[in-house]
Amino acid sequence: MKGEVIIACDFKSREETLNFLDQFHDIKPYVKIGMELYYSVGPSIVKEIKDRGHKIFLDLKLHDIPNTVYGAMKALADLQADMVNVHAGGGIEMMKAAKKALDEKGAKTILIAVTQLTSNSETAMHEELLIPSSMEETVAHYALNAKKAGLDGVVCSPLETVIVNKICGSDFYTVTPGIRFKSDAKGDQKRVTTPDMAARNGSTYIVIGRSITGAKDPYAAYLKAQRMFATGEEE
Ligand code: C5P
Repeated sequence: MKGEVIIACDFKSREETLNFLDQFHDIKPYVKIGMELYYSVGPSIVKEIKDRGHKIFLDLKLHDIPNTVYGAMKALADLQADMVNVHAGGGIEMMKAAKKALDEKGAKTILIAVTQLTSNSETAMHEELLIPSSMEETVAHYALNAKKAGLDGVVCSPLETVIVNKICGSDFYTVTPGIRFKSDAKGDQKRVTTPDMAARNGSTYIVIGRSITGAKDPYAAYLKAQRMFATGEEE
């Protein structure tokens, strides 16, 4: 199963986002709307970008008690995003509540769960979160919980797709941020790799923000990432 490059549009305004997307001419990349854009502009931005022909991953990472997540997901279902997510750390019952909300609305939206943020290191996970297992074991366990809850897949780092595919099957989506070209700065991300390596590891979708949005020529950077992800070949 192979998806495509999803661009994380982490912008603070509607204008900035639409100007950015105008650079892609007739190509309509899959767009990720995260907290920054959604909370700055509001739900209308989802419909506006969708109406321009883009698929939308609404990355709001819900994490609350099951009843609250159920209600929130019912509201989000009306936006008809192509993909939405919750935090697997909220537990199986919470993930089931999110799934139930989408099912009751008859939504076709793909539902995935964040395992461990790609900005987390294994050391921070041990020392700050007091999770004693290895990063791989933790991600694989959270992925299995997401599968048990009936979800379609997980967000994980491209370094963990092999183990997730092994444990949950290759039809279980692995959506992987933490993608950089060789020459890029990692920024706050810790568990990163390149688009071609993510493809070879078996990621279903890769999510790229700053390596495209901050590039001199975002359109060229996007095409390069798509080619590397499609072929598994280096830049
Ligand atoms: O700019 P960069 O490529 O690091 O952006 C990655 C995007 O993926 C950000 O929008 C971030 O919120 C999101 N993300 C992540 N790690 C996760 C889940 C989502 O980096 N586990």
